[in-house]
Amino acid sequence: MGDEHEAASRHMPVMRDRCVDLLAPSLDHAGAVAIDGTLGMGGHTEAILERCPQARVVGIDRDPQAIALASARLARFGDRFLAHHAEYDDIAGALAVAGVDRADGILLDLGVSSLQIDDAERGFSYAQDAPLDMRMNPEDPVTAADLLRDLDERELTRILREYGEERFAAKIARSIVRRRETEPFERSAQLVDLVRACIPAATRTQGGNPAKRTFQALRIAVNRELEVLERAIPAAIEGVGVGGRVVVESYHSLEDRIVKRAFAAGAESQAPPGLPVVPEADQPYLRLLTRGAEKASPEEAELNPRAKPVRLRAAERLRPTPPERLRRNA
Ligand SMILES: C[S@@+](CC[C@H](N)C(=O)[O-])C[C@H]1O[C@@H](n2cnc3c(N)ncnc32)[C@H](O)[C@@H]1O
Repeated sequence: MGDEHEAASRHMPVMRDRCVDLLAPSLDHAGAVAIDGTLGMGGHTEAILERCPQARVVGIDRDPQAIALASARLARFGDRFLAHHAEYDDIAGALAVAGVDRADGILLDLGVSSLQIDDAERGFSYAQDAPLDMRMNPEDPVTAADLLRDLDERELTRILREYGEERFAAKIARSIVRRRETEPFERSAQLVDLVRACIPAATRTQGGNPAKRTFQALRIAVNRELEVLERAIPAAIEGVGVGGRVVVESYHSLEDRIVKRAFAAGAESQAPPGLPVVPEADQPYLRLLTRGAEKASPEEAELNPRAKPVRLRAAERLRPTPPERLRRNA
């Protein structure tokens, strides 16, 4: 495979056609509006705009560079594409940009983009030495270097264990706290070397670069990824009208758990079993469109490593959420 081909497959939106298949039925009418909460390089949005000629798409991204690049790429669609620089829980802001109360489809393709990883200076990659930054939005106040300087050992351990699923979290955290007394962490190579030294040689050969999990954990913490997602999923469910669809691609078990729970809560009847007539407030307000979580095909996962961990879930709005249920779910 040539470099060009490799680059093209790395930039290929994950499960692109499946996402569009799931969204298209709700976007096939005049005035339809979709929100792509994770615009990135605009690959998913482009596919939606091509397949659904009546739809407009509002693309949200917290990364101004993604907004600029995707806007240039999508310029040929004129005012069918609208950009919104924000975090993706700002569904209300995106609706206001389109001038509607509810969207017909919302897509979230979580995590970091290959554009961000490929730009060494942004510090996401353990493969290249760069400043320890990792902010998706360069206007955000806290960098990875700040966390490595300020967090106590317990919090560092928690982050590495929970977000990185790192077996040696306690050892790495202890080592960070000791090392920073004499040498502040500024560059990714310092952290890569420290993690390598903490991980026993026998386990080092398995699972690629030993620093991979530590970098993932810090990235999730720097960008408050789970915190924003916890707010975004209910906002997305409330942000689509009846018949509207929400499609989410997760790459981490904690992300997928948030999505799974919120969808399950909406798809279940809340009535006690055996009730002859289920009150409106207890009826499901979502219909699940995927059985469990869907994965990428083996062919796609082989071609694009980013597709390997993906878990795709989708749901359709059946009725407005009864106010009692909204209060209960809060
Ligand atoms: C995996 S990429 C999306 C790729 C996109 N689907 C495409 O086809 O090019 C994820 C994007 O979401 C953005 N992002 C991640 N978390 C975000 C958040 N909380 N709010 C807004 N954008 C976010 C990142 O900056 C990144 O550009």
